[in-house]
Amino acid sequence: MSDFVSVASDGDVAVVTIDNPPVNAMSFHVREPLHQALAALRDDPSVAAIVIACAGRTFVAGADITEFGKPVQQPELRAVIAVLEAIAKPTVAAIHGTALGGGLELALGCHFRVADSKAKLGLPEVKLGLLPGGGGTARLPRLVGAEKALGMIVSGAPIGAAEALEAGLVDAMFDGDLLAQTVRFASELVVKGGPFLPVRNRNDRLGKADLAAFDRQAAELAKKARGLEAPIACAVAVRNAVTLPFDETLAAERELFLNLVAGDQSRAQRHLFFAEREAAKGPAKDLSRRKIARVGVIGAGTMGGGIAMAFANGGFPVTLLETSEEALQRGLATIDKNYAVSVARGSLAEDAKRERLGLFKGSTDYADLADCDLIVEAVFEEMAVKQEVFGRLDAVAKPGAILATNTSYLDVNAIAASTSRAQDVVGLHFFSPANVMKLLEIVRAERTAPDALATVVELARGIGKVPVVVGVCHGFVGNRMLAARGAESEALLLEGATPSQVDRVFTEFGWPMGPFQMGDLAGLDIGWRNRKARGLTAVIADALCEQGRFGQKTGSGFYRYENGSRTPVPDAEVEALIRAKAAEKGTTPRAIGADEIIERTLYPLVNEGAKILEEGIAARASDIDVVWVNGYGFPVGKGGPMFWAGLEGAGKIVERLEYWHQHTDRPIFQPATLLRRFAETGSWEAAARP
Ligand code: 3HC
Ligand code: NAI
Repeated sequence: MSDFVSVASDGDVAVVTIDNPPVNAMSFHVREPLHQALAALRDDPSVAAIVIACAGRTFVAGADITEFGKPVQQPELRAVIAVLEAIAKPTVAAIHGTALGGGLELALGCHFRVADSKAKLGLPEVKLGLLPGGGGTARLPRLVGAEKALGMIVSGAPIGAAEALEAGLVDAMFDGDLLAQTVRFASELVVKGGPFLPVRNRNDRLGKADLAAFDRQAAELAKKARGLEAPIACAVAVRNAVTLPFDETLAAERELFLNLVAGDQSRAQRHLFFAEREAAKGPAKDLSRRKIARVGVIGAGTMGGGIAMAFANGGFPVTLLETSEEALQRGLATIDKNYAVSVARGSLAEDAKRERLGLFKGSTDYADLADCDLIVEAVFEEMAVKQEVFGRLDAVAKPGAILATNTSYLDVNAIAASTSRAQDVVGLHFFSPANVMKLLEIVRAERTAPDALATVVELARGIGKVPVVVGVCHGFVGNRMLAARGAESEALLLEGATPSQVDRVFTEFGWPMGPFQMGDLAGLDIGWRNRKARGLTAVIADALCEQGRFGQKTGSGFYRYENGSRTPVPDAEVEALIRAKAAEKGTTPRAIGADEIIERTLYPLVNEGAKILEEGIAARASDIDVVWVNGYGFPVGKGGPMFWAGLEGAGKIVERLEYWHQHTDRPIFQPATLLRRFAETGSWEAAARP
């Protein structure tokens, strides 16, 4: 009856199949024929039961996100679900793949849900800055209870079929031919006879809700929301399901949804959803891929160990190489300990740990890397050491093996030049801890072969990373912009701000922590050593390091950390040190406001991003946003620095940069041409057009 929705009969069971590749989103062109089909089947006396199933790789994975922010085309999802829910004959959703968001809400409009044992079910709307808007907050709690529903809706994390069965969300779980078994399930219902209760009239676990416990759970979640509106709205909506009649719950959900979908935070999060997928596409699809079966990692320190774990977690056997047996055993012991922590936390099963550890092969002999298809170097950050390593790799690696460096700053072209196969060399800049952090900057060097690049982009997705292809420059996209963000930190302190004041402005903006807390966490000695090597100074940070204050690891840095705690405590000694250094420079402290802190740290961040775009180091503004949200904690509700520039007003940013440029003459404040053009055109794409 339509290209996207078809109806077939199996005896007196009608099977409605949705076929809207790739993920069966509930686009208008699905809703309209589905609405019609359901109304017709409702009135068709030859039909005794209705099954809703999907073609392709998944059940409906949600509303069509591309339609948000545009005028709604009727029938909307809620109207389709209303028709479905009012049908008296038994209705069953046959779920395979993922039933997410509006997809799960559609399934909740059925009397019954059955699932393939590998299926996943969830309401991930919160990750788009939304709440379920198709009745999910009203119906899910009726089946699984308010607390379980709150956990699912506020985290947005899907649950597996077995958990869904246990929770009461699905009624049966099958292996094998899902459709045949669902039709049989529906036929049995017909034989058994009704009446069949729609979810709206059920109260399986909701009646037992403990509101006090619910409110405690909601308050905890609100604390973690860091300024995001959606998680709070989710909690309000689920609470309504307990306290209000069904139709009022639904109406309140609608209102909350409409507010969120029109807001900047959801716009920002939807931007990031598509930005991540765009970034992960990498070079042309039709390029061939190199086969990666075994991965080598050189250096078993902080990064090498984490990188090795990231590949083992993705199922790859890993050869881990160190300079000495002692360093190797130390590295392997750390990996063992990290997995043990996951087991203790309950996030990894003991036999899965054993399986992963079984994937590691330690070595101190470069010849053992000969069977690796990808080799990632994570040795000390020194060009001479890296070049020596790549020279040795050139001698032992198999032809066509991809040779990658995890350098944070160094010139990947110069590293590639130490081999006879620059076409196989690429940067894979993981973030610490590499087994946890999602971002992977993939550095395309001048001579990197397109198929090598395509291979690592695909591989990155395969091990659960968010890849972004970047070009060669000092610090690539992330660390180069980080340097621009941090450039004014010391000046702000000398002029009168305190570390805790600056950090508070950052956390109020939505960052997980401010720059001084971050410095203390990462270790101030790293930057200190780096500066010394490059003949640079930072008055306050250098003085702290000279006193042995390296941050959390020594119990003090910009803050004090008492008795091994990670909580930063402002330290009068540091403030005295800052004032003394200011006096030496003849600076009189003045009051510095939050606006000035933003202008002097985040405006240069945006400005550097514009320069990076101008130079072609990043392909799109949205790639830069993906880097900053996934690698540096830029608040998701603001969409990344380049998206936020639009919210903040590019004209205002240019004007204030000009002001600071005049007052300080520092190049970080010189507005980039592309930023000026963004201010004129209102879009980064338009700004980049000649
Ligand atoms: N709407 C529109 N397009 C979507 C979409 C959606 N809900 N979900 C995925 N897509 C698109 C992607 O943009 C991508 O397009 P591209 O190929 O042009 O880049 C394509 O489908 C494939 O997506 P993925 O690359 O993400 O495919 P995966 O196989 O890796 O993952 C998935 C599949 C797990 C379903 C993942 O796509 C996903 O998580 N999708 C979003 C699910 C979601 O958030 N649903 C809730 C939507 S909001 C909602 O339902 C509101 C309701 O309550 C009213
Ligand atoms: P690290 O000092 O913890 O580890 C380096 C390891 O390499 C040591 O175990 C050392 O024994 C080993 N090593 C040195 N020379 C070697 C050689 N020739 N052959 C084999 N092994 C050798 O250093 P870390 O922090 O792991 O950094 C490694 C690289 O990763 C550097 O290039 C660094 O810039 C980069 N990086 C570091 C990040 C971090 O947060 N620490 C983040 C992203 C990148």
